[in-house]
Amino acid sequence: MQQARLIADRDFIIASLDRRVSGAFAEHLVRCIFGGMYEPGHPTADADGFRGDVLQLAKELGITTLRWPGGNFVSGYNWRDGVGPKASRPSRLDLAWFSTEPNQFGTNEFITWCRKARVEPMMAINLGSGGPDEARQLMEYCNHPGGTEHSDLRIAHGYREPHDVKLWCLGNEMDGPWQICHKTAQEYGRTALEAAKVMRWTSSEVRLIACGSSYREMPTFGAWEYEVLDHLFDHVEFISLHQYFHNRSNDINAFFSHIDKLESYITEVAAIADAVAAKRRSPKRIMLSLDEWNVWYKARTPDDLAKPGWPRAPKLLEEVYNFEDALVVGGALITLMNHADRVKAACIAQLVNAIGAIMTETGGPAWRQAIFHPFAQASRLARGNVLRLVTECGTFAAGDHSAAPLLLASAVHDPESGAVSLFALNRSQEPMALSADLRELGPFAVAECFELKHADLKAVNTRDRPDEVSPVRHGHCGVKGGEFSAVLKPLSWNVFALKPAEFGPRGH
Ligand code: AHR
Repeated sequence: MQQARLIADRDFIIASLDRRVSGAFAEHLVRCIFGGMYEPGHPTADADGFRGDVLQLAKELGITTLRWPGGNFVSGYNWRDGVGPKASRPSRLDLAWFSTEPNQFGTNEFITWCRKARVEPMMAINLGSGGPDEARQLMEYCNHPGGTEHSDLRIAHGYREPHDVKLWCLGNEMDGPWQICHKTAQEYGRTALEAAKVMRWTSSEVRLIACGSSYREMPTFGAWEYEVLDHLFDHVEFISLHQYFHNRSNDINAFFSHIDKLESYITEVAAIADAVAAKRRSPKRIMLSLDEWNVWYKARTPDDLAKPGWPRAPKLLEEVYNFEDALVVGGALITLMNHADRVKAACIAQLVNAIGAIMTETGGPAWRQAIFHPFAQASRLARGNVLRLVTECGTFAAGDHSAAPLLLASAVHDPESGAVSLFALNRSQEPMALSADLRELGPFAVAECFELKHADLKAVNTRDRPDEVSPVRHGHCGVKGGEFSAVLKPLSWNVFALKPAEFGPRGH
């Protein structure tokens, strides 16, 4: 049996956890939208054509923000194609995913969906085939009250009140040669700077996100962030990171080591942003937006990336998530919490069907993928200040990490209610006896406790077995005063919600 110990103190705070870290991403990739969020004629569809079952699951998933419309798609997207009467919107060839884009879901449908789901919209502008002027006009369309060409166009389209979109991504993965109109760091830095200026002059309250590298292994990683921020430092609040985890070698320890890579990636990007600040002797801190992250490697064959014949709603990137994927997603969520001082926005990629937390059949049911569960639990229970934990546990060798901790844990304290939520991923093949010294945070009672565990790492949820991988009540935990203890099963994700003792039942 492995032994692990945690110490948490209410005064040792990393930062308050920004609710925007529980965001998701919805790209026109293709069944994420068509047959996912939007399917007029589906038995659960509402008057806007939004699937009610997907909307309900998105609420249960607990997403707080939604990034749209891409992704690679945005680099060829003209926002004007997606507004106005649906019958007169053009169909276009989408060069990102080689499908036909019908434009029946555009800016106003996206905003309406967000309002219904009660999530904050995060929009991306096209800095591939588009440019600053198109972005300025979109900003005017979305955020200006009225009395100008583009704001009056929005009103004529039936939206009197401005959409008031605060979060804007300045393009997508512009460092990637696969991007429509890929740019060098200098080209991107210059274009994004001019876009940022006119966007903020049009709507002063916006928060802007510069494109960082597409992933940490890009040959331009580091140099890209530095040069881009050298251009944009005074004009943006965030820089983006994207990371997709994979298990191509079918080795759980190597798979787990991707979580440690995310840890390094966050630290490195923050350091580069701070180097740009230091050069300017500036106290400003650029925050990080991990606006695409998830597991993605199974649905990555040429057939998953594009289908011949420019189809309208092909099945692309429809990754079926298994139990071990859910463990890695859980570990990534813990890492995000433990970097709450710098990571202020994050989007799981994506929401539905295409590498989605939710899976649907067009015309049929919707269900929760295995990765749905740790995300939903973290979004619901991680509220307040993330505490700086002292963690003692065994280690394992994986990837670049010769001594990666077997236990990944985070603790979030809600100063209002006094509640503390503990999240713990046991990366060991053995059970782990965990004790947590919660100091003067307690005394506590266990209000809720869950474990996500399956005998088969490859177990998946399907239409016919939608609950094969689901959390169950934890059987081995309890508190005595300020001391919490639990036995974590081998390779398991665990959540413990502790409430001040006087308000809840005793632990069990
Ligand atoms: O999420 C799928 C794709 O992955 C996105 O379009 C792109 O930004 C990333 O490479």
